[in-house]
Amino acid sequence: MKRLLTLLAVTLLAVTAMAQNAKPQPLTQEAFEALCPTPPMGWNSWNRFGCDVNEQLLMGAADALVASGMKDAGYEYIVVDDCWQIDRDADGNIVCDPERFPHGMKYVADYIHSKGLKFGIYSCVGTHTCAGRPGSMGHEYQDALYYARTGVDYLKYDFCNNRGTNSKTAYTIMREALKEAGRPIVFSICEWGSTKPWEWAQGVGHLWRATGDIINLWDGKEDWGGHGMVNIIDLVQDLYPYNGPGHWNDPDMLEVGNGGMNVIEDQSHFSMWCMLAAPLMAGNDLSNMSDDTRRILTNKEVIAIDQDPLGIQAHLSVAMGDRQIWVKQLVDDGYAVCFFNRGETPWDLNFNWSDIPELRATGNSYGVYDLWQHKAIAKSTAKNVVSTIPSHGVLMVRLTPVR
Ligand code: GLA
Repeated sequence: MKRLLTLLAVTLLAVTAMAQNAKPQPLTQEAFEALCPTPPMGWNSWNRFGCDVNEQLLMGAADALVASGMKDAGYEYIVVDDCWQIDRDADGNIVCDPERFPHGMKYVADYIHSKGLKFGIYSCVGTHTCAGRPGSMGHEYQDALYYARTGVDYLKYDFCNNRGTNSKTAYTIMREALKEAGRPIVFSICEWGSTKPWEWAQGVGHLWRATGDIINLWDGKEDWGGHGMVNIIDLVQDLYPYNGPGHWNDPDMLEVGNGGMNVIEDQSHFSMWCMLAAPLMAGNDLSNMSDDTRRILTNKEVIAIDQDPLGIQAHLSVAMGDRQIWVKQLVDDGYAVCFFNRGETPWDLNFNWSDIPELRATGNSYGVYDLWQHKAIAKSTAKNVVSTIPSHGVLMVRLTPVR
């Protein structure tokens, strides 16, 4: 009997050891591509906190995402950007900053998961990240396994210090490593639009940055390649043919609530990101949000435009100098229309709907619903739309076909 028990115990140990070393079941390309049918939504540490990240910040952001109603509005990823990592050990394993993450990254991931949320992490194609931390070059498979074991659900993968490597090749190596590691991980490509990822990245990653970094300003440009909010809109304006379920143009993370723009401008920023079917990564301090910031970030009716299953990026339909009319087709045969006043004076709008070519072409009439006032403003598009749009403001409406 004793021998039988010993034999059983030894067998059990061997089976456990085998299971622990078992090769993960790789993800098929089909399963990988199906991971991100609507633009991802969440929060990322970079815009507001830069390198000043630690476990309390991430866990506090998870708490605030739930408490603020953002989780309920669809935000799910808590993403730590650069500077969580500090070194590699003798075996080449990535090491997190022990002072800022004393319990390790799995502890943080587990906490985030316990809130019903998902965990995202950051690395880089190059030898070093943009902030000089260890990058993944030569360690792709090892890092991907670490992400899978840690419980990572989203990887933002940057392009600094890449030693002139070909972008498509480099991002494909990491995609293969992620698939091989067997955990579903959304793959966010961040090469700043430098090698036209919209032409090659569908199937390689789920979203790709289409521009240099956003800066916390309405309009502006930095020598190092930063762009103000409206400048980013101009840069992505013609990329709408490349957007769609599972493959998103990324105009960068949100600056809503970071103070560089006023409330009207923040509302326009959020409206336009939703018109563009952009990834919605909040970049503010979630634990200290004004009511206006929360109101903007949690407007479910505006978010529904972003998350529309067709995944169509709006295009600029009518341009009259600083006054623009953007149109986005929706799954219910309706449209989202955003009248965007980029000028310095109010726009006294008195506009015939049939002057928008798409609407004229359908010949339909539509009910008009104001997505910021949360009310129907006209029963049909037979009459002109009349409104005063403040400088830097929007009128954003949803048109639903009158049947
Ligand atoms: C690049 C990226 C940013 C951010 C920083 C981190 O600039 O574009 O979004 O991740 O690196 O160093």
